[in-house]
Amino acid sequence: MTTIKQSNEKAWVEHTALRDKVNESPLLRSLNAVRMKLSASSKRDRFILKHLKQHARKRGRPLQILDVGCGGGRLYLKDFGEVRGVEPDDQLRQAASRHYAEVKPGLANQIPYPSGSFDVLTLIDVFGHIERGGKDESIAEMFRVLRPGGILIGFIECDAENFWYRIAKRRPDLFQKYFVARLGHFGLELATDTDARFKRMGAEVVEVRPIDGFLPAAGYLGCIFGNTEYLQQFKWLVPLVAMSRIFGATLITGEFFNCLLCPLSVLVDRLSPPNHCTALMVSYRKPSP
Ligand SMILES: C[S@@+](CC[C@H](N)C(=O)[O-])C[C@H]1O[C@@H](n2cnc3c(N)ncnc32)[C@H](O)[C@@H]1O
Repeated sequence: MTTIKQSNEKAWVEHTALRDKVNESPLLRSLNAVRMKLSASSKRDRFILKHLKQHARKRGRPLQILDVGCGGGRLYLKDFGEVRGVEPDDQLRQAASRHYAEVKPGLANQIPYPSGSFDVLTLIDVFGHIERGGKDESIAEMFRVLRPGGILIGFIECDAENFWYRIAKRRPDLFQKYFVARLGHFGLELATDTDARFKRMGAEVVEVRPIDGFLPAAGYLGCIFGNTEYLQQFKWLVPLVAMSRIFGATLITGEFFNCLLCPLSVLVDRLSPPNHCTALMVSYRKPSP
């Protein structure tokens, strides 16, 4: 298999363990269901669920779903049909195998399934990890395994022209270190360029929504700027990073803050220029012949 640049596997494995823990406890499961409905951090899950529901209704039967770059897997996908995954990382693949019908080693540009096998592909927080030179090939391969009329539902990390990114890019070396390499986001593109790329590759838009621009979620500024290199350079960030760390100190405080923030966050998403947003939620259809 083609090698890929990875950098954040440890965090993804920890995240997967947390999801499994939540799933095993009825109390945490109920709290998580509330969080999914109300939190700014769940906007992408609500978008994915909306499009899965719409497509399941349209098809009128359980869906064949492929989760591309599935990490440890997303349990709610199973409510809509039979879920398979492709994932390059051994440890994450093992974790996802506990939940999905089948998980194979693979990449977005090397999917070990025959053409037209799936009604839905999910691509959640993966496309930003694929370097620019491999993106068109990956879209073509994903559309190959999708049935005509099938949809690709994605959450795509993007480069941005918002206030925080402009500050961060004043130090290109630190931007590369903390925004790109540390998170594994080696192929970030602006939201409009990402959308144009999918359309050029023949995708039909069902819905495309840019999100997460100026207004940071709990913990975000702490996570991105909370290192001595940035803070020495931009001293005025110190109190903001401290506040961000206080709000994001635990999952409960962070998510409480994110629930309060959600209505404002949705409004800001709607008013922001697309390229101020750091992610795109997309639903693209493979045209029927
Ligand atoms: C941030 S994690 C997201 C995992 C999962 N989709 C989720 O939402 O929890 C990024 C995942 O993309 C995978 N990945 C990286 N490059 C990939 C590629 N070219 N094709 C498919 N998956 C890739 C990584 O191994 C990792 O599991």
